[in-house]
Amino acid sequence: MLSRRYLMAQAAGAAGLATVPILTGCSPGPDTSEPLKVIAARKGLSFGSQVLWRELQGDSAYAALVARECVQITPGNEFKWGAYEPSEGDFVSEPCESLLQWANQAGVSVRAHTLIWYRSIPKWAQRALAAGENTCFTARIQGAVSAFRGRVAWWDVVNEAIEPADGRDDGLRRSPFLEALGPGYIADAFFIANAADPEAKLCYNDYGFEYASPDHDRRRAALLRLLTDLKTADVPIDGIGIQGHLFADAVIDTKAFRTLLREVAALGLKIKITELDVRDASAGDSKAKARRAADQVRRYLDVVLEEMAVTDIITWGLSDRYSYWMDEYPDGSPLPFDTAFQPKLMQRAIVEAIEKAPIRAG
Ligand code: G3I
Repeated sequence: MLSRRYLMAQAAGAAGLATVPILTGCSPGPDTSEPLKVIAARKGLSFGSQVLWRELQGDSAYAALVARECVQITPGNEFKWGAYEPSEGDFVSEPCESLLQWANQAGVSVRAHTLIWYRSIPKWAQRALAAGENTCFTARIQGAVSAFRGRVAWWDVVNEAIEPADGRDDGLRRSPFLEALGPGYIADAFFIANAADPEAKLCYNDYGFEYASPDHDRRRAALLRLLTDLKTADVPIDGIGIQGHLFADAVIDTKAFRTLLREVAALGLKIKITELDVRDASAGDSKAKARRAADQVRRYLDVVLEEMAVTDIITWGLSDRYSYWMDEYPDGSPLPFDTAFQPKLMQRAIVEAIEKAPIRAG
């Protein structure tokens, strides 16, 4: 785990870098509140956000906001197989390299997302897997991890492999990977990634563990079973990402969620909240939605930050201007900063939840 002293130094260093040439003249606005990364670092927590290269490249004020608030970034699309290798052997590495270079200059670390995800398999690889030609699976992991070796702090190795609704006893999703390689593909992915960069930390990432519902009961059970199997088989996994794409009005099952976090921690795994944001389909006005979203984030973080194995809060974007959900929920309030990059009630909720959290040992 990163020490608290390291996080504070990194947060302070990156704050200074908001004025290096790459970012000059790009003030995020008059907000003078303390950056989230600084507040988080005092508790031994790491704060970050998902970003897309085109956002950082095209909007210098947003790039400055990200550098100001974050000690880490998660590229939202660029490292996915479909984006990185749309044709076999034809790598679109420029956006990845640009993001890594930007991160290096801004003093933030990179959590690359994601090596193996059923929703981002290029067509050529889908055809290969369906035909039983499985070498592309190993090549994908080995190739990407080696290409960025030493520059990616954490990899999301496997994303969203659980889907109890698919009807398997183990709760795993019937994906092209599972059909081609069997359930062992998850462990294999971690072994291959670890061999390609033994220094990179490796993560399993998924959603759907927080609510009071039979579906989330099944998802919690499936996750615990999967992680227990991986740990029993000595698979090199360092942590899990719980996405945290919240719905404003869903009821969090605090007892079951807390228990799950404790059980995951007992396996020796770190826990990251990796894709925090809020969707709200209600008819309320935008002010009411901003309050509902902030309240839900506060309820959620109050539960997760009690668990000492939770080390990171990563939002899926920082500003509503770039939220993935704005097309679908145009009056929503998904992220901590508004479209003019001013902090909203959600930012306050995050600050207050962090301030209440116990200090992680460093
Ligand atoms: O890069 C192209 C661009 O060249 C083109 O002009 C544009 C036109 O639509 O498309 C761009 O690619 C899009 C990309 O986002 C970047 O904006 C893809 O079409 C689009 O499919 C892609 O969507 C991403 C989606 O995952 C699917 O990969 C979103 O950015 C990303 O936020 C979303 O993230 C997922 C996580 O990976 C896993 N968890 C759920 C989360 C939300 O669905």
